[in-house]
Amino acid sequence: MNILLIGSGGREHALAWKLAASPRLTKLYAAPGNPGIAKLAECVSLDVANHGAVADFCKTREIGLVVVGPEAPLVAGLADALREAGIAVFGPGAAAARLEGSKGFTKDLCARYGIPTAAYERFNNAPKAKAYVRRMGAPIVIKADGLAAGKGVTVAQTVDEALAAIDDCFEGSFGEAGAEVVVEEFLTGEEASFFCLCDGRTALPFGTAQDHKRVGEGDTGPNTGGMGAYSPAPVMTHELIDRVMRETVEPTMRGMAEMGSPFAGVLYAGLMITAEGPKLIEYNVRFGDPECQVLMMRLADDLVPLLQASAEGRLDGVSAKWRNEAALTVVMAAKGYPGTPEKGSVISGLDEVAEDGVEIFHAGTALRDGTLIANGGRVLNVTATGATVTEAREHAYAAVDRIDWPGGFCRRDIGWRAVEREKAGK
Ligand code: AMP
Ligand code: GLY
Repeated sequence: MNILLIGSGGREHALAWKLAASPRLTKLYAAPGNPGIAKLAECVSLDVANHGAVADFCKTREIGLVVVGPEAPLVAGLADALREAGIAVFGPGAAAARLEGSKGFTKDLCARYGIPTAAYERFNNAPKAKAYVRRMGAPIVIKADGLAAGKGVTVAQTVDEALAAIDDCFEGSFGEAGAEVVVEEFLTGEEASFFCLCDGRTALPFGTAQDHKRVGEGDTGPNTGGMGAYSPAPVMTHELIDRVMRETVEPTMRGMAEMGSPFAGVLYAGLMITAEGPKLIEYNVRFGDPECQVLMMRLADDLVPLLQASAEGRLDGVSAKWRNEAALTVVMAAKGYPGTPEKGSVISGLDEVAEDGVEIFHAGTALRDGTLIANGGRVLNVTATGATVTEAREHAYAAVDRIDWPGGFCRRDIGWRAVEREKAGK
């Protein structure tokens, strides 16, 4: 079967790597892909906002499955257009993608179905939102309703900070995404990511992970798209997974179906494990980046039939096999990130790094006259497996140290929480 993969980041390189290993694959195309993906797929330039053009491409290249990596094309309805054209696609339609595209939508769903989440209110104007913040006090969390490329959330430690975040949203810092705001209770606990493959009715647990959002060691400094991740997340025990399935994922699946927008694709629940139990922070309707990289390294089964079963409503009775290993990924970023990253620095040594159990996924690279250069903020995802998170981390950093890229940097403490747990024997 021919497969078309949409996207260009480290998440998509990891998906391409796993898809390319499938005996069911005939030919892999990626739009637009990146230099790492180009070793596994034919990279094509397609305007993914032009749904008709994507459907035409699929028809002429006899694409049997489209795998959509990022959220924006899903929220924009690419999956709907492809399905209407009779093309199988992994990923939700626009109505189901509201779980990520509108935070207010998801909060209302939680309220209606009794799904544990932070207390909240929705606002479409600044004065009312500010009055609510003054009444509730700080810390408090301000969220632009729509897609804001991971920048729409302010965890405000003071009322003034919260008021400024509200002004930011309504003054257009996030465009349309900030026309509505969710103000919610500040939760404390350990964060974890939980993934399920869904087909509209059935949700199949598909791994856990934890990421590090802050740029600095010890989880300090500005937020980023994620500086590293590991899987599994030790905090997500079997009991907790069962509880999240029962209290959160299953009511979500039921609610979405009852609303006429059944969810198919990967449901990514961002959870806070509070003293009262797991609470939903947010949903994403695609794999996490860089969480996907560690999940793909651990997945023992062929990915293709799993994604097909999701696309074709056949997940009932399907299971997924995982390697009894941990995986950890270290994000190497260009100096300056998450501010303005320096572009164009030369990266070498990647070929010498290759060894069993280590993969370097490209996130923000480009080729300049045949030389690999940095071309984004997060540039490489150095990913390794091991018997434990501690061992996976040793392998990953040993590989990082063999990469010759003076223009890059990484955190040296990815996985610290899990490593401490392992040291304590828990
Ligand atoms: P993102 O939506 O991925 O930009 O990141 C939001 C981050 O803000 C989460 O990963 C949490 O660390 C934090 N966050 C979001 N909502 C809350 C909340 N209600 N309480 C505490 N932290 C939150
Ligand atoms: N790593 C966080 C995300 O993909 O949203």
